[in-house]
Amino acid sequence: MGALKFSSEFIERVRESTNIVDIISSQTQLKRSGPNRLMGLCPFHMEKTPSFSVSEDKQMYHCFGCKRAGNVFTFIQETQGLSFPETVEYLAQKAGIPIPKESRLNQSQEADQDQKKVQEKLKFRINQFAAQYFQVQLRSAPIKVAEYLKARRIEPETIEKFQLGYASGEWESLVGTMQRKGIPLAEAESLGLIRSRGAGKSGHFDMFRDRLMFPIFSPTGQVLGFGGRILGEGQPKYLNSPESEVFHKGRVFYGLHESAKHIRLDDQVIVVEGYMDFLALYQAGFKSVVATLGTALTAEHARLLKRFTKNVIVLFDGDSAGQEAAERSLPILLSEGLTPRGLILPSELDPDEFIQENGPEALREALKSAPELFVMVFERHLKGYRESAAEKVALIDKLSPWLKSARDERLRDLYVSEVAERLRVEPDWVYRALEGARTRHEPPKGTSVSSSLVEGGRKVAVAAKAELIDLKGAPRSELYLLNVALMKDEYYQQVKASGVTAQLSHPGVRRAFERFEQLYLQLPNKFDSLSSLLVVEVAPAEAVGLHLQPPLVDLTVEGAVKLISDCIRKIQEVHLRTESKKLRSSLKGQDPESQREKLEQIMNIHRSRHFLTKDS
Ligand code: GTP
Ligand code: MN
Repeated sequence: MGALKFSSEFIERVRESTNIVDIISSQTQLKRSGPNRLMGLCPFHMEKTPSFSVSEDKQMYHCFGCKRAGNVFTFIQETQGLSFPETVEYLAQKAGIPIPKESRLNQSQEADQDQKKVQEKLKFRINQFAAQYFQVQLRSAPIKVAEYLKARRIEPETIEKFQLGYASGEWESLVGTMQRKGIPLAEAESLGLIRSRGAGKSGHFDMFRDRLMFPIFSPTGQVLGFGGRILGEGQPKYLNSPESEVFHKGRVFYGLHESAKHIRLDDQVIVVEGYMDFLALYQAGFKSVVATLGTALTAEHARLLKRFTKNVIVLFDGDSAGQEAAERSLPILLSEGLTPRGLILPSELDPDEFIQENGPEALREALKSAPELFVMVFERHLKGYRESAAEKVALIDKLSPWLKSARDERLRDLYVSEVAERLRVEPDWVYRALEGARTRHEPPKGTSVSSSLVEGGRKVAVAAKAELIDLKGAPRSELYLLNVALMKDEYYQQVKASGVTAQLSHPGVRRAFERFEQLYLQLPNKFDSLSSLLVVEVAPAEAVGLHLQPPLVDLTVEGAVKLISDCIRKIQEVHLRTESKKLRSSLKGQDPESQREKLEQIMNIHRSRHFLTKDS
């Protein structure tokens, strides 16, 4: 997942070779509701009646309900949790467009880069091969495997969906097949699938034997590695693929490729520790879930989750190891600005066992009332607390790093008041304690991900977040004018010809029109692309998605012309009013000559305004 930079031409090519309707159709069912318009249930929020509209000619989407709008890039970024370069790469691959070489690198670096890419691809292909092999093996596995799956209550659909498999008990099963297929064994060995017998002996043997296999997927569905569980008791319980160039346990969640869309919809994610916990929750209907791979939660994990939601529920095992892991995750989640809650299940049950024993309803209730993770951890440290001054000091020392790691100050203030209340001290005392402890450890500053991805030349498809054109608070008439103008070239020409863009009151709308014109000049004959380019450069995005929804989308030509002239009239009126106000306030204390000049200007303005209103 190299942070490749792509030229704007390349990005454009990818965008043009991709149909947003196909991409979105794979996530939600769309129905035609106009010549160029489709509607469906919004993939970003829960709804029963469709308010999500997709424009085929404009290659944009817009939701009436949750106000999300964007183009094919933002759609993939948000639903799959990919970065912008990853999205471009992903869509390019889908469209069969070869990825260009990184132009900044010199030749030998370039060759290295290519070599690495090729090797990466090969590794994914080998993993993919192994996953399919294990899947096939499961079908002819000894009866004990089916019995084990049954005992663990794993349903056939789950097996199918998560492509579970079985590694046979033989020593050279996978190796033999790979050899026959001509798969390079050294690569398979580097992936931890097989191992050379070494020390003078020739040949290789399978690493995973007689295990239930869980392939671990990337968000885009590549097989990164495996977890293999022993059937029944024994050590090690799990064998996991080793870290490799294509597999970093600190960056990957089990199940995310399937659960991402649910996480987005529920605006919440449940983090568990085990594959089995993941599957148990998923099967029980808690689909917005991910599992760590038996490693601690990392900052990279937290950042990955943040692409989908801020609301994280840490649901770890009820034993002390689980509680400690939950505690370790607290500062990591807080310093990424997430809002973590925590749930420890009673009587040392893990989530899987809890569901088997108490049913999904009980879990639903427990999740609903899950406390803030901070509060949960705090409570744990309060055990045996006797309100002595020494204990208060010791406790606040313990809590300080957590409190300070909270990137969201509102959250931190709430925690401080919680602590103050429980310890029966003044909030000020807590804040002073935080000040005193400052020198020890500062939370990592949030990394701002700039997306200055387009090197040199014109920036077409992306603008850095910081430079988004701010359309908040724009008057209706100006927003409507912008949106009608985006509908058809002839409407835009009318707006331009009126000269009204110089009279816009909102600086954001003015900038949006300027950008519109720039894009228009850069991409003549591609008027329909302009909306989808502009939509990723403004905030909120939906401000340029209005033309995809009624009433604008249903406008006839006459209706549009009327709307344009109404908007223009309104904008001119406001403009004249502010101008005359400005002149009037500058009248005071001026010499008679310039006073008369200004008065004349005001008279002119009044005449214009009169003309405007008479006309309507
Ligand atoms: P069950 O015990 O079958 O219910 O599995 P589980 O998914 O609940 O696993 P558990 O909670 O015991 O462990 C959580 C995660 O830690 C597992 O999913 C593995 O990723 C990892 N893990 C557990 N045991 C081992 C082990 O022996 N070796 C390694 N490498 N990882 C393990
Ligand atoms: Mn378990």
